[in-house]
Amino acid sequence: MIAPSILSADFANLASEIAAVGPSPVDPGVDWVHVDVMDAHFVPNLTLGLPVVESLLKATEIPLDCHLMIEDPGRWAPGYAEAGAYNVSFHAEATDDPVSVARDIRAAGGKAGLAIKPGTALAPYLEILPEFDTLLVMSVEPGFGGQKFMPEVLGKVRELRKVIDAEQLTLLVEIDGGIHTGTIEEAAEAGVDCFVAGSAVYGGDDPAGRVAELRRLAAE
Ligand code: DX5
Ligand code: ZN
Repeated sequence: MIAPSILSADFANLASEIAAVGPSPVDPGVDWVHVDVMDAHFVPNLTLGLPVVESLLKATEIPLDCHLMIEDPGRWAPGYAEAGAYNVSFHAEATDDPVSVARDIRAAGGKAGLAIKPGTALAPYLEILPEFDTLLVMSVEPGFGGQKFMPEVLGKVRELRKVIDAEQLTLLVEIDGGIHTGTIEEAAEAGVDCFVAGSAVYGGDDPAGRVAELRRLAAE
């Protein structure tokens, strides 16, 4: 699965930027659109919040994958699911009670995702994986697009893949940060299901062509 991140898109034209990666002659369209919500506290950057997500939900049929890089996710995350976001990921580092946040997201009708920063270990969360639909492994420090891929996080992806297969979990493994034509193949080999790509998709003209190329490489 490919999920373009609109962080690298033109914020004054989000609806048309999303339409540009939708169904096209070269690609059936992206699976999800990745929306980075940053609060200038959990990460040193500020993007957009629920009102913009509500407008995006009206502007596209493509499921929205909201990545909340915010403090106090228990307070805000369920609202995104209630509004209609398909998947709502929050950061493990931002809460002491990830299970109750996940349950609240699911109760509000969304899929629940746990996101972990590059330096965050997987081990403490292995037992609660069934509470989640997605696990987002960050392959850059969260906050900005266009950073360099950190291949060392692929160890966590391989470990996750093993646990998912052994326990027959339905959890999807997502990777986010530095994914482009030069890194997507090694991530796919490690067992990633869903690839987030911001600058690699929106960094030039022809975003749909870039998505098609990424999909081809990931499937190889
Ligand atoms: C970074 C965001 C990413 C970002 C990725 O904190 O979570 O989703 O858009 O950008 P690229 O693909 O350019 O590394
Ligand atoms: Zn993201």
